[in-house]
Amino acid sequence: MTSTNGTGTAGKQHADAPAQPGGKARLLEVRDLHVTYPGGAAAVRGVDLSVAAGQKLGIAGESGCGKSTLAMAMLRLLPAGTRVTGQVLLDGEDLLGMKWGRVRAVRWAGASIIFQGAMHSLNAVHRIGDQIAEPILLHRLATPGAAKKKVGELLEHVGLPAARADAYPHELSGGQRQRVMIAMSLACDPQLIVADEPTTALDVMIQAQILRLIEQLVAEQDIGLIMISHDLAVLADTCDRLAVMYAGRVVEEGPARQVYENARHPYGQALSAAFPRIGDRASRFAPRGLPGDPPDPSDLPTGCTFHPRCPVALDSCKVDDQSLRPAGPARAAACVHVADTAGESSGEGTESGSGTAPGAGAGTESAAGAASGDTAEEARSSTS
Ligand SMILES: Nc1ncnc2c1ncn2[C@@H]1O[C@H](COP(=O)(O)OP(=O)(O)O)[C@@H](O)[C@H]1O
Ligand code: SF4
Ligand SMILES: [Mg+2]
Repeated sequence: MTSTNGTGTAGKQHADAPAQPGGKARLLEVRDLHVTYPGGAAAVRGVDLSVAAGQKLGIAGESGCGKSTLAMAMLRLLPAGTRVTGQVLLDGEDLLGMKWGRVRAVRWAGASIIFQGAMHSLNAVHRIGDQIAEPILLHRLATPGAAKKKVGELLEHVGLPAARADAYPHELSGGQRQRVMIAMSLACDPQLIVADEPTTALDVMIQAQILRLIEQLVAEQDIGLIMISHDLAVLADTCDRLAVMYAGRVVEEGPARQVYENARHPYGQALSAAFPRIGDRASRFAPRGLPGDPPDPSDLPTGCTFHPRCPVALDSCKVDDQSLRPAGPARAAACVHVADTAGESSGEGTESGSGTAPGAGAGTESAAGAASGDTAEEARSSTS
């Protein structure tokens, strides 16, 4: 992987994150992050984000919008040959400029990741207790005896009996395995957790339990959380702030409930209309009422990349690219219809755009863009 600290401004997003609630220092700052895969797919194109300790940031968007690529870039888990530029500052230290030894240490103790599909991420032939203990021992954070004790504590912390440490992954239910993944992510007391679709494979009841567990752990331990999902309703329910991604960029950002209930960007509006209730897995690939699919990152449309699907596009949208601009207090959106309402007291309840909710088009169900390579094993093997 080539990681350089680029200062280029092409495609730069201006998502100057608003002041953190409570004035907390920013734990993570992502600045002008670009990721291009070896074949030329520009999967992330200038993303700026920040997360404070104890803060929960949701990242939403259909399959193929670049969410997992962003997460993997932040932890340097991308395949060799992938071009990554920008900065990923964790407590002020740039992960992209770190030597591999330091990255490995930071990956568990600084920032850890929970992937979707725990069955694929856990090793089927090892007891779960040994798998949770592995990073603790690897980073010499405890003796074998103390690591065993810590494993028991972690399991109980995520609602499993300590004795389950002796179980193999296939002996656990899907929800229990995802709890194990969460225990594993907490093993080295990270400051930041990145959870990539942590509940997508689970049924709605278990999904709600896991989400509450993650929320509780984040609050108790003042951990920063980035939660990735295609489901805006799940994120609005769990997170403080929301960033909506489309074609590798953040196209809308703001307080979670406001973005969910009153999106400013036509894509944000379509996504929030697509998820009337938590866990609507059928909407994963094509939100209802939104025709077509996200674009191929190797062959992006000109101008605003959303224009071929946008119900309120102007002729100029085929030509003019849009950067994030202020769209109300602590909000930003990248659309020509969005006027800066930051200074207006009435701004929050006002539709500054067309006022037309997208959704008239015929929805197309499609599995195109279904992302693969989301498992820890694949990601890990890609770095070894
Ligand atoms: N290893 C890879 N090589 C080339 N393109 C990839 C690779 N991984 C993902 N992509 C492409 O990058 C885009 C973003 O994918 P991804 O980050 O997985 O999106 P999301 O998590 O939002 O579904 C997709 O078009 C996907 O096909
Ligand atoms: S800039 Fe144009 S195409 Fe893009 S979201 Fe706004 S109206 Fe639609
Ligand atoms: Mg993904």
